[in-house]
Amino acid sequence: MGKYFSVAIDGPSGAGKSTLAKLCAESLGFLYVDTGAIYRTVGVAVRNAGIGSKDEERVSALLPSIEISMRHDENGLQRMILNGKDVTDEIRLPEISIYASDVSAMPSVRTFLLEMQRHLAETNNVIMDGRDIGTVVLPDAELKIFLTAAPEERAQRRYEELKLRGVNTTFDEVLRDIQYRDMNDSSRSTAPLRPAEGAIILDTTGNTLEQSFKLIRSIIEEKMFR
Ligand code: DC
Repeated sequence: MGKYFSVAIDGPSGAGKSTLAKLCAESLGFLYVDTGAIYRTVGVAVRNAGIGSKDEERVSALLPSIEISMRHDENGLQRMILNGKDVTDEIRLPEISIYASDVSAMPSVRTFLLEMQRHLAETNNVIMDGRDIGTVVLPDAELKIFLTAAPEERAQRRYEELKLRGVNTTFDEVLRDIQYRDMNDSSRSTAPLRPAEGAIILDTTGNTLEQSFKLIRSIIEEKMFR
């Protein structure tokens, strides 16, 4: 392995990956990389270009004109820049979740984003979260965690998060969205969502955030300092 330490955290939407990965990264001084945000940024580009989310041919043709970069602001928030414009808020819109899920099933999109993700792990200690980090992006990660929870609990958490952000939605809508994406993300043929070989599987149903955070941090520390 190189000189950097990588933690891969995969799992379905709303399992708490981002919140927990971000907290762990902050407490350990690692770079946190939210790869879902990168797929969402492609989703925004596709929507803005007026292309249907399942139109693989046109999405693939659009890719060379997309320039994506990211930076972390003073609060540690990963800001996403699409062709020079900050789209950090826009990528969280519920309609963009569907675009992101649909375009992420396309091999051309996954290949387009692979190098960017690997480069980050080659140049930083990272905690990277997504769907295929342990299986495809960083198969040699020192630690792989597969984080999951019951769909209703994931929907409830996501619903509260969206409500706080002032997004107008209902619990049922969020649950439907989660079920749609679970099915989409796990059944696609390219890089489907599944636990990587050697991944530690953690079900956070019924846990408080604090409990899951302590558990994951202790697993990471155990691996780092063993
Ligand atoms: O984690 P998220 O909900 O922000 O991700 C948005 C979509 O992107 C999700 O439906 C699946 C896809 N995704 C992916 O296919 N691979 C990743 N590594 C991260 C996200």
